[in-house]
Amino acid sequence: MDRFERQLRAADPAFARLIERVPLLDSPPLSPNWLRCEMLERHQLLQHADLRSASTVLEVGSGPHAISTVPLAFELAPPGRLIAVERARWSQFSKILSATGIQDRVRAIACDARRLPLRDDSVGLGVCLHGIRSLGSEDGIVEVVREMLRVAPRVLIAESLPLGENDAQRAHLAMYALREEVFLATGGRRDDLHYFSLERLVHLVERAGGRVRSSTMMKVDLPHALAYFPRELVESIPDRSSRDDILARWNVAYSDLRRVGEDHPPVGLVAADRG
Ligand SMILES: C[S@@+](CC[C@H](N)C(=O)[O-])C[C@H]1O[C@@H](n2cnc3c(N)ncnc32)[C@H](O)[C@@H]1O
Repeated sequence: MDRFERQLRAADPAFARLIERVPLLDSPPLSPNWLRCEMLERHQLLQHADLRSASTVLEVGSGPHAISTVPLAFELAPPGRLIAVERARWSQFSKILSATGIQDRVRAIACDARRLPLRDDSVGLGVCLHGIRSLGSEDGIVEVVREMLRVAPRVLIAESLPLGENDAQRAHLAMYALREEVFLATGGRRDDLHYFSLERLVHLVERAGGRVRSSTMMKVDLPHALAYFPRELVESIPDRSSRDDILARWNVAYSDLRRVGEDHPPVGLVAADRG
């Protein structure tokens, strides 16, 4: 039995049954159960959050696979409602959520989280799991967290930390560290920012007007799948010298991923109240 199966068996049996309804995905070289494994990690993070006391929860940055939406909606027993906000990437969201059977707990809104179409204090808790990295810049993060604190009296932020405690975590960090540069060089927006230290995450939440109640680090003992991106993306970089330079680093990072695997680095969790 692998680590994922072992930890799924140790999880809430109702959550384990839910996870078994999540489709397996055919996206080599990732393992077919990568999505289930990521959802289990989000579920573990949420054991550090006090979700049950909020009847309406806001999720910022749901992403195309509903990775944190499913564990969040699971935690909210009916009549709890999850408002899932995502700017643009919805491709498999409905299909995956419907497969779990808990779609009725979720209201999805396509919008920019810097301007939420929600009234002040209309939700109990705002959550952003592994989404801080996608908010473009430190100023972008501050804007979004400030907006979350307008609509909710408290927030929970969780994001990977740049800490490699074993070879597989270091392999994840080396591949992940190429993403920001590659997305920029291929003409995309500044996505997948380098991970922030826990102190920096606290600082950003405070800049947004949060009074930090707790900041902790959670160790995760699970494979990760989300640093990897295909070589073809690097090959499409128009500028030759930066392409060759990044390609050389991609080759090293990829061979390390294949050799030692890719593990979740520790995750920073910041819980804050409106200041
Ligand atoms: C890393 S992804 C998905 C994170 C997901 N919660 C998870 O657990 O893996 C973060 C998402 O945030 C979205 N995003 C970035 N900036 C946003 C904004 N200003 N408003 C809403 N969504 C945004 C991106 O489109 C992306 O799909």
